[in-house]
Amino acid sequence: MKRYFIAGNWKMYKTVSEAVALASDLVKKLSDCGEKIMIAPPFTALQAVSEVLKGSSIILGAQNMGPEESGAHTGEVSVLMLKDLGVGAVILGHSERRHNYLESDALINTKVKLALKHGLEVILCVGETLEEREGGRLESVLRGQLAEGLRGVESSVLDRVTIAYEPVWAIGTGKTATPEDADAVHAFCRGVLAELYGKEAAKNMVIQYGGSVKPENAAALMAKANIDGALVGGASLKAESFVPIAKFRES
Ligand code: 13P
Repeated sequence: MKRYFIAGNWKMYKTVSEAVALASDLVKKLSDCGEKIMIAPPFTALQAVSEVLKGSSIILGAQNMGPEESGAHTGEVSVLMLKDLGVGAVILGHSERRHNYLESDALINTKVKLALKHGLEVILCVGETLEEREGGRLESVLRGQLAEGLRGVESSVLDRVTIAYEPVWAIGTGKTATPEDADAVHAFCRGVLAELYGKEAAKNMVIQYGGSVKPENAAALMAKANIDGALVGGASLKAESFVPIAKFRES
């Protein structure tokens, strides 16, 4: 049976005590969930949440990392520091980083390769703006983000790479891509991955959908052939909405 990858991106929310409370609740309520689960608290709560997750199967994720191992990089957090805290995966190329902090495909690619070199899993986010979609540039934007983001990444490490398709217009807006639309875009992404790595490798890659995933729409999205999981923002901030998403099979 297919095992889905359900991840929560907590963005810039939760103090340490709030993060510990939510993580503790999730550990209890998801102990019987068979899907692959990750939560990505803010940097400041990683250490405390790492302690909470010890002995559970929930993966500790980070929301970003610096492009260098160490050095004079004020304000950055290194892959080595993340590993030291028990982080197992890192979200890279999120549209909020691309658009608000002007991260380029080249910078994202440097981070992807660095994270993989140090044994972390990577969730590489891709997605088009409404303007790009309406201007007929959906495919060229996604092709570019995938090819540039994965440039130089060997097929031998692809089992540690997840792609998250997050249409920018669906993030935090309450607008979700229909399951049919999302599935078609996922199929396109898989086609690009097949061009890069071959059909068999592309078939095995996990492609998450992100953008206003809620308990009400999770099962319909997960039912689609090319959707292998979800990257959840707002609804991951409360156990009462994240747990039913992770347990979408019961709905
Ligand atoms: P929302 O679920 O709040 O739309 O956010 C999606 C997202 O950006 C996850 O990374």
